[in-house]
Amino acid sequence: MALKAIVVGLGKQNVQDYLPALQANDKFEIVAVCDLEPAKVEEVSQRYDCKGVVELDRFLVGNGREIDVAFVAVPHNQYKSVIWTLAKHGIDIIKEKPFAMCKAEAAQIAQEVYRNNVTLMMTLQRRHDPFFQTFGEYIGSIGDIHNVSAQYVMNIPQLDEGWRSQKSLAGGGALIDLGYHYVDLLIWYFGIPSRVFCNMSSGNRPKQRYDVEDTAAIQFAYKRNGRDSVIGQLLLSRVHWNKREHLRVIGTKGGAVLDNEKITVDYDNGESLEISREDFPSQSEVLQRQLNYFGSKLLSGEFAGKIDPHFLEQMAFVEAAYQSATDSCPIGPSSVLSVATVNYGSVV
Ligand SMILES: NC(=O)c1ccc[n+]([C@@H]2O[C@H](COP(=O)([O-])OP(=O)(O)OC[C@H]3O[C@@H](n4cnc5c(N)ncnc54)[C@H](O)[C@@H]3O)[C@@H](O)[C@H]2O)c1
Repeated sequence: MALKAIVVGLGKQNVQDYLPALQANDKFEIVAVCDLEPAKVEEVSQRYDCKGVVELDRFLVGNGREIDVAFVAVPHNQYKSVIWTLAKHGIDIIKEKPFAMCKAEAAQIAQEVYRNNVTLMMTLQRRHDPFFQTFGEYIGSIGDIHNVSAQYVMNIPQLDEGWRSQKSLAGGGALIDLGYHYVDLLIWYFGIPSRVFCNMSSGNRPKQRYDVEDTAAIQFAYKRNGRDSVIGQLLLSRVHWNKREHLRVIGTKGGAVLDNEKITVDYDNGESLEISREDFPSQSEVLQRQLNYFGSKLLSGEFAGKIDPHFLEQMAFVEAAYQSATDSCPIGPSSVLSVATVNYGSVV
């Protein structure tokens, strides 16, 4: 039987990506859509032939038992209250990134999930994308890794509009927004670094007013066996002249590069290979894979009352980078947010 879903937040992400994907997936059934703006609710509920909701809590008092799971994509400062409402009614949650606005909120969310014994998972589509999975396999083929260079950059013309322009609503800029995906990739491929050192810059669109960073440059190091065994850098920008995703990994037997739509691998024995994104499933197929993953985890109950430790590692990295930029010194992510203790509600 399909899981009954409510979709909360009818902005770009849910309307363009998740509503069409959910409609095409037989593991889920869209039973309601919710937004604070009645006009959006009216239009989208008609399009998907489902209930329209403006006041979430009031709706769930009468209808909560009909809902299994909520797909939530709202401005970053809105997640906490939406999660509280859903968890109180025992509804599982699939939320967009970031996990939280800051470490204190991360600990509160973990507590709430634990207290209400609900499942909370996050949409990080690259983990379900065979293109990025294959890149991870090639990283494993180039020997011991010693250097990583990553870039996720865009050209966003208007930085002074909407909730993304304000730290109080978004939690930050390039790092916590688009950068979150690359923090996740680094942790997925290499684990959590021993320390990060971050510089941030703002005001690179001089006539626009916003108080978040438009650029972040992060150096990181992984200490193993008492030495910095992997060193690297990550550039995140909203003011780059073009859009680019780039990862270059150097190992003792060669190098692997992911550059937008292409993976190349060069080995020190002279062999090399090149693969195009076209050889991999489309983005809509990737969304289906991700939904199937969520469906199976919700049914198995594997994450009920627990937080996937990766989410806390991502927040530890993000928080350490912001703290490093403020204090102008390197910070160890593990010293900022203890992944071991946060499940039980205490943050060191
Ligand atoms: N995974 C990705 O690649 C990706 C891409 C874009 C956005 N996102 C994430 O998706 C989320 C939303 O981004 P967006 O671009 O769709 O934003 P958006 O501004 O287009 O849409 C947000 C919507 O949420 C509604 N809303 C605000 N508060 C609400 C509340 N309390 N209850 C119900 N609805 C509420 C707003 O009215 C608006 O319709 C963010 O967390 C963002 O980081 C992820």
